[in-house]
Amino acid sequence: MAALRARAVLLTGSNRGIGLELVKQLLGGSRPPAWIFATCRDPEGPRAQELRDLASRHPNLVLVKLDVADPSAITDAVKVVEGKLNGAGLNLLINNAGVYAPVTLETVDSEEMIRTYKTNAVGPLLMAQAALNMLTKCQALTYGETGILCVALHPGWVKTDMGTQEADLTVDTSVRGLLSVLPILSEKHSGSLLNWEGKVIPW
Ligand SMILES: NC(=O)c1ccc[n+]([C@@H]2O[C@H](COP(=O)([O-])OP(=O)(O)OC[C@H]3O[C@@H](n4cnc5c(N)ncnc54)[C@H](OP(=O)(O)O)[C@@H]3O)[C@@H](O)[C@H]2O)c1
Repeated sequence: MAALRARAVLLTGSNRGIGLELVKQLLGGSRPPAWIFATCRDPEGPRAQELRDLASRHPNLVLVKLDVADPSAITDAVKVVEGKLNGAGLNLLINNAGVYAPVTLETVDSEEMIRTYKTNAVGPLLMAQAALNMLTKCQALTYGETGILCVALHPGWVKTDMGTQEADLTVDTSVRGLLSVLPILSEKHSGSLLNWEGKVIPW
């Protein structure tokens, strides 16, 4: 069975935390992808400086503006990606962008609930919908009729802005684990949740 090789990848929320580390480790791997579309809300802003520095050194890294909670931004990003790929298609979408507000049932308000739902639930679905048109189906034999394998990966509790410095794992360890899980995935994992060590977590 052919192992998944990230050839043309799109990531969301790639300007900091786990997303930025994914970009760094994908670039630094032994077989870096031909294309990495690193998307974030504000590629020109101060929070994307590290990403811009990387892009200035790596021609296969393309920065694309994308807010996953904004359907028109997704449409615009698709156009940019399609323009670069020239029909070749993506073969990996990493829905990494997410928000977490440390609120309780007593303190959460409807605005926060809607923001979280839009970013963490609707965003990935809209991205998956958009990516369907951009995903290649070259792995149809491996991944069944649709040729598309969809899994959820849990990064562990990671030292990022979201995870805080109290977390167990460094971002380097978590991302190294996540990227080593990708090649072991096959059709039997479709729809599963796995952790950064490749262990299946029951839903
Ligand atoms: N860290 C952990 O312990 C942990 C544990 C379990 C799951 N996770 C998941 O892992 C993923 C990455 O987490 P992290 O720890 O790296 O978090 P982080 O450091 O807070 O980074 C979150 C990233 O998501 C982006 N983002 C937020 N809302 C967005 C939107 N509407 N559109 C596009 N990008 C958006 C942020 O961009 P801006 O800079 O523009 O805000 C940032 O790049 C998240 O999905 C999170 O739920 C993390």
